[in-house]
Amino acid sequence: MAHPSTYKPGSRFGAWLDVRLPVARLTHDQFLAYPTPRNLNYWWTFGGILTFMLGVQIATGIVLAMHYVPTAEGAFDSVEKIMRDVNWGWLLRYTHAVGASMFFLAVYIHTFRGLYYGSYKAPREVLWILGVLILLLMIATAFMGYSLVWGQMSFWAVTVITNLFSSLDMVIPGLGTTLVQWIWGGFSVGAPTLNRLYSLHYLLPFIIAGVVVLHIWALHIPGNNNPTGIEVKTARDVVPFHPYYTIKDGFALVVFVLLFALLVFYAPNLLGHPDNYIPANPLQTPPHIVPEWYFLPFYAILRAIPNKLLGVIALFSSIAILFFVPWLDSSKVRSTRYRPIYRWFFWAFVITCVALGYLGSQAPEGSYLVFGRICTFYYFAFFLIVMPVVGLIERPRALPGSITESVLGYDAEQPVGKVPPNPPARARAREKVL
Ligand code: HEM
Repeated sequence: MAHPSTYKPGSRFGAWLDVRLPVARLTHDQFLAYPTPRNLNYWWTFGGILTFMLGVQIATGIVLAMHYVPTAEGAFDSVEKIMRDVNWGWLLRYTHAVGASMFFLAVYIHTFRGLYYGSYKAPREVLWILGVLILLLMIATAFMGYSLVWGQMSFWAVTVITNLFSSLDMVIPGLGTTLVQWIWGGFSVGAPTLNRLYSLHYLLPFIIAGVVVLHIWALHIPGNNNPTGIEVKTARDVVPFHPYYTIKDGFALVVFVLLFALLVFYAPNLLGHPDNYIPANPLQTPPHIVPEWYFLPFYAILRAIPNKLLGVIALFSSIAILFFVPWLDSSKVRSTRYRPIYRWFFWAFVITCVALGYLGSQAPEGSYLVFGRICTFYYFAFFLIVMPVVGLIERPRALPGSITESVLGYDAEQPVGKVPPNPPARARAREKVL
């Protein structure tokens, strides 16, 4: 939130630097004294977790790249060499591979949190759009990273997904084929393809880091949304980020890292596909080509539509539609907490996304296909029908007068000192609110 600076340099060097490069002032004002709503719950800790995960992926990725060989002949063996011969190579690789899954888990939770609490609504539209851009970049990065293992699943996933562009032949004959061959650098997925995917996989995380800086900048202009969805009104509605949220975020991060470590040390291959331990073979297609779990809902949408071009359009639209959410939702109230009808549709949407994930892992036939189509329909209907219409017809529940009132149960406008000091009264008031 834009607020007056409270930074005071603690030394002569600090004062000297402050008028030349005020990094200490920036850190103090934006990350320590930064006024944060007092009622943020644990769903707000995922932004910090994501920042941490981006750091983990970049750090482990850079060291992996020191040992990885980006050639069609050398790639698979170099990964095995990392696992067996490089000191701590197994830990590096498993941390990076499981880290990708944890990163997506966190980003999906972060995005659904934004959807639930209406954090995309004015004045946070640009913040949201930058988030969707990050999601797109993450998807591209993970897809390219997966290809580098050059196992059977890697190779065929690249083949299937890059081939999607050939559907453009239906728009302008020859355009799709030309585009696909340009992406491949040849007439099939091969050495040039691997080399360019490697180059881009190294580049994109740094672009993501740049967009994350913009994302956090765009957050710090209006300040955080919060579970009530109502804006900060008085100084009593906020607390300084440090120590209140450094501690809360830190605690959540430790729990998250415990789960991460559990997977890395006890089940590192749980989320992967065994076929990726078979070297890529362009002459043998695996019976079921499935992407990593975090792409399954999109894969289900792609396959739910019988026409290739329309399937590809649906696939891209399923993400692109997120850009328009700030303008699709017609509700005047931000938080779903106060929206009795929309709440049901929201949870149906969450269940639909999970169901699409399951359906994406199954062969597209029989009842799987039927359910895939029903879920795909609801996925788009949620954005194109539910969001615009429910906001117009629903009567939201009464909103609290302020953030402080939602926490303490009494008016935030009361001057400090007149606050009831009696803890049981406080507890009762809190109970009433929760
Ligand atoms: C690398 C990925 C990302 C990083 C590192 C990141 C980082 C952050 C951080 C640190 C915050 C503030 C803390 C919090 O509210 O949790 C935040 C807030 C936010 N992010 Fe992200 N984010 C990422 C991806 C996304 C994506 C994919 C979306 C949505 C499509 C998104 C939408 C938002 C919104 C709407 C807020 C404001 C939340 C509020 O105040 O209610 N972010 N992000």
